Amino acid sequence: MVPNKMHELMNEQIKHELESYYLYLNMAAYFHEQNLDGMAGWMRAQAHEEMVHAMKFFNHLVERGAKVILYPLSVLKATWENPLQAWKEAYDHELFISSKICNLVKVAKEIEDFTSMPLLHWFLEEQIEEEKQTQEVVALLERAGSSGMSLIYADQGLGHRKPGEGSALA
Ligand SMILES: [Fe+2]
Ligand SMILES: [Fe+2]
Repeated sequence: MVPNKMHELMNEQIKHELESYYLYLNMAAYFHEQNLDGMAGWMRAQAHEEMVHAMKFFNHLVERGAKVILYPLSVLKATWENPLQAWKEAYDHELFISSKICNLVKVAKEIEDFTSMPLLHWFLEEQIEEEKQTQEVVALLERAGSSGMSLIYADQGLGHRKPGEGSALA
């Protein structure tokens, strides 16, 4: 069984991860509109990862015999002033998710839910990577400028990332 507090927070985290999926899918659509198909492809791959994250919590609850509750999703945002703004908001969103994961770890310790620890430690490591990836793109666009050829080069570079084979987002 899953302690009540952890059960509640993990169901909320499924919602946060699915809203991350939704946010990055919206960013993919925005980048396609801007003819930045490389950045759009990167966001498709990121959206795919967020769905995988949601399913990690979903499967964890199922395996521990706890009910999965799927809450209504919010569209966090659907358009941006410019590409740099979208990347900055992706980074800010990852900081928000990291704070949620840290809170899960804090609660797991407080209530001595040791069974949750391996999953939550995986997410701590994952958030380091997710913050780093988005922060690097923000830094690149700030340094190189986010218009003209710099933007085209950045778009080409980011286009190398692909969702896993068989993903509906590929
Ligand atoms: Fe995530
Ligand atoms: Fe993420």
